[in-house]
Amino acid sequence: MSLGYLQRKAAWEILLKVSSGDFSDHALEKVLKNYQFDPLDIAFITELSFGCIRYRKFLDLWVDHTSKITHKKQPPKLRWLLHVGLYQLLKMDKIPFRAAISTTVEVAKKTHLKGLTGTVNAILRNASKKINHEIFPKISSDKKEKISYLESLPLWLVNDLYKWVGNNDAENIAKAFNKKPSIDLRINQLKTDLDEFMKVLHENKIDAEIIKDFNNGITLKSNPRSIKKLPGYSDGLWTIQDRSSQWVAPLLDPKQGEKILDACAAPGSKSTHLAELVNDSAEILAVDRSEKRLKILQSNLERLNLKSINILKADATRLIELNPNFISYFDKILLDAPCSGIGTLSRNPDSRWSLSKEKIKSLTLLQEKLLQSIVPLLKKDGTLVYSTCTICPDENNFLIERFIEKNKDLRLVSQKQILPSLDFPGDGFYSAIISYKT
Ligand SMILES: C[S@@+](CC[C@H](N)C(=O)[O-])C[C@H]1O[C@@H](n2cnc3c(N)ncnc32)[C@H](O)[C@@H]1O
Repeated sequence: MSLGYLQRKAAWEILLKVSSGDFSDHALEKVLKNYQFDPLDIAFITELSFGCIRYRKFLDLWVDHTSKITHKKQPPKLRWLLHVGLYQLLKMDKIPFRAAISTTVEVAKKTHLKGLTGTVNAILRNASKKINHEIFPKISSDKKEKISYLESLPLWLVNDLYKWVGNNDAENIAKAFNKKPSIDLRINQLKTDLDEFMKVLHENKIDAEIIKDFNNGITLKSNPRSIKKLPGYSDGLWTIQDRSSQWVAPLLDPKQGEKILDACAAPGSKSTHLAELVNDSAEILAVDRSEKRLKILQSNLERLNLKSINILKADATRLIELNPNFISYFDKILLDAPCSGIGTLSRNPDSRWSLSKEKIKSLTLLQEKLLQSIVPLLKKDGTLVYSTCTICPDENNFLIERFIEKNKDLRLVSQKQILPSLDFPGDGFYSAIISYKT
């Protein structure tokens, strides 16, 4: 068995799982359970498999460029294995072509693709020759189509991106959808502080740094073998949460003793942040309709040892029906709405392939319904924060502006859109702060 063969096999198995409907992170976790890889191997497999998933469209272009049979007609298992080989040749500078080809061919040889070993070898060798001679696939000269191939994004998304942010930002954002996502932690200020926890990380030889401009944020400088095995996780010293998401709970300016509703709360990153900000001394109601996700929230509460959060499994559009006493009950409401997640594409490699304009349309209807049904629960001097992890205006500022227009007694205090960027390690996020007119 040649060095590196098992890593390529594992990456291929992850692609097979994702192609049959698994999310990338679940697929990675399931496949890794079958092997004994060290942290460097895991980092390599993650980069290779997630890269192949992100760059599916770009790699298909190369399959078409190097094979007699187009990607659409390739048997899927072969198509994904070719992606594993091509990604190494095209996107992983440090891997010698010979090693990339021989290890990938070995996967074919030792699995049920045995009969196609010669085909894999021939296509990858052809690709390596074309790369060496700079014979690249022909792409349309249209700028948007070009980006759609090179950054491997659905064309409708690139077209929309140009409409949303204009020429100056669109290309940078498209590239940022393929950046390596940061791994950020939020320190539980009820149990430790930044300096103390940084010391713990350094003692354990974990390279990390404090995130500037965030009160409790730390970012890891390299991928851990398993995030949950980092020191302090089971003791509730921290929560994994992207820096842009860490920015949301403080917008509510939560105070001790307040009644706070988190209307779409699971798995609880923001509910638990709210509880930590008020020293675990408020009445926080965490509502979500997903039982599975609420179980994760419950285990987070236990791990972080937070007592001020009550969980309610419910459809947040029906809270008044469930309890009419909720009318004008809450000082603060957070609606961290279900959304298309376009701000987090770099974190979720497969999600660009399952998104569609129709899905976004149905999400905006739900977002509008959620907003309209929870606003009566807010006290007249209360604050409502609406947030999403998307950059699609239909789910963000357009929706909020229409909502304010419809509800004449409300005002938009402020709104902010964080765009994904190559210069900013966090996700794209949106928030609006809304209150009653005084
Ligand atoms: C963006 S996620 C929330 C993330 C969460 N706020 C956090 O920070 O961990 C959106 C959540 O909305 C929930 N959801 C969707 N529709 C809902 C509804 N009608 N009522 C309650 N929860 C809903 C989903 O189950 C999902 O957990």
